[in-house]
Amino acid sequence: MNTISARIHLDAEFIIGETDERLFGSFLEHLGRAIYGGIYEPGHPEADGKGFRKDVLALVKELKVPLVRYPGGNFVSSFNWEDSVGPVEKRPRRLDLAWRSVEPNEFGLNEFMSWAKEAGTQAMMAVNLGTRGVEAASALVEYCNHASGSYWSDLRISHGVKTPHNIRLWCLGNEMDGPWQVGQKTPDEYGRLAFETAKAIKLFNPSLELVACGSSAPSMPTFPQWESTVLGHCYDKVDYLSMHQYQNNHSDNSATFLACSRGMDAFIDSVVSTCDYVKAKKRSKKTMMLSFDEWNVWFHSNASDRKQKPWNVGSHLLEDVYTFEDALVVGCLLNSLLRHADRVKVACLAQLVNVIAPIMTENGGPSWKQAIYWPFYYASVYGRGTVLNPRLSVAHYENETYGETPYLDATAVRDEEGKYLTLFLINRHPEESINVSYSLGGIATSGKASHLELAGFDLKAVNTARTPDAVKPVVSNGTKQSADGWASNLRPLSWNMIRIELA
Ligand code: AHR
Repeated sequence: MNTISARIHLDAEFIIGETDERLFGSFLEHLGRAIYGGIYEPGHPEADGKGFRKDVLALVKELKVPLVRYPGGNFVSSFNWEDSVGPVEKRPRRLDLAWRSVEPNEFGLNEFMSWAKEAGTQAMMAVNLGTRGVEAASALVEYCNHASGSYWSDLRISHGVKTPHNIRLWCLGNEMDGPWQVGQKTPDEYGRLAFETAKAIKLFNPSLELVACGSSAPSMPTFPQWESTVLGHCYDKVDYLSMHQYQNNHSDNSATFLACSRGMDAFIDSVVSTCDYVKAKKRSKKTMMLSFDEWNVWFHSNASDRKQKPWNVGSHLLEDVYTFEDALVVGCLLNSLLRHADRVKVACLAQLVNVIAPIMTENGGPSWKQAIYWPFYYASVYGRGTVLNPRLSVAHYENETYGETPYLDATAVRDEEGKYLTLFLINRHPEESINVSYSLGGIATSGKASHLELAGFDLKAVNTARTPDAVKPVVSNGTKQSADGWASNLRPLSWNMIRIELA
């Protein structure tokens, strides 16, 4: 096997920024089997008294997801939140136009908040700005966050929830630029509505944090004019601008697919520039932060979704079965988020269970970890702290979609306690291993390091209910210290996590 050489130069003072723990968030939508048959399945042998699957809760807790966006997604744009609270037997069954499904409202707002508490996570709540507006959003905020003594807070108490939910982070609608959205808006319509909704919510409590909708993808013809116009209206009132992007390998071209984090980098850079343009135009002192609240690989299920019959509860929608190749891509996408930790403060892997998710379940059967679970798990558990800016010297390949792409994708994070330097390294080369040497300016190490790798699988290898551990990282002995310093050997097409203990 041939080898190429690379050098990573890090310096204790070359800092990108601190990670916000919310960078490792996720998303649960009333869509397919995310809720019904995913986190909630009364009658399942693993269900607790509330119908929450304990096996799924355990996997979610392991991921240490700090926040979960809810209840949509496209679903939220025609959702009446009032349908989902109060006595379950009185809740209406509704048609969900977004996913052409039936929403029984058996699992609603208070059930979600109770599940989130058990999962040890916070809610990122979305309000409907598709078919509804300021009044419904204000009522929802009052229902969730006001202690007592008002119509909506007392209604919550009458529903058996005495303590307010105190939800801090709110999405002002979802993908309002999308023609598929129920209640799509022009940027001026949405910008005004976002401004007025934000004004009402901040009158209730100025410390609540609000996310305005950016474009639903960089490929939208209105990107980035949408961002500029929307922020022109609501810059002063909102705290984050949302970003959404899904990757695919429809053309089955691994070299291009593995380079897609270059597109994610460029997308973030463009949105940062657009936000800063509006900042300059407004002579504002405030810097807009970003909420990348939908990101993942999504394409495997497209064909089967087109064949699904409408108007069911818990259909098998968006059930992508993820490959080893997808896991490598997700590792690169996480690196892209870490590289932008100074501006991307919130991010949500879309989604969490069954629907384009790291966790899969069978109705009445087991739950298991998909291949993409692993890079997300290790980034969430070991990727928090100070992100350093690596100077990378490595060979490139020319790609028709993303241009010059380095064979190595690298990020480095010093943990909050200053005990470890953790590197997430992906070798994109299909045949050659990469020998990485490190120069660690101002970073003293103890002489100990560990190395985990996800490597050596068929690119299309997957985990299933029967083979849940087919794609799983193993310990590697590829990282060593010599007289010349630390060096790692990264196998072809591999994801690697290297943790060097600091002195
Ligand atoms: O995550 C699946 C869907 O993708 C969401 O509902 C929507 O916001 C996006 O288009």
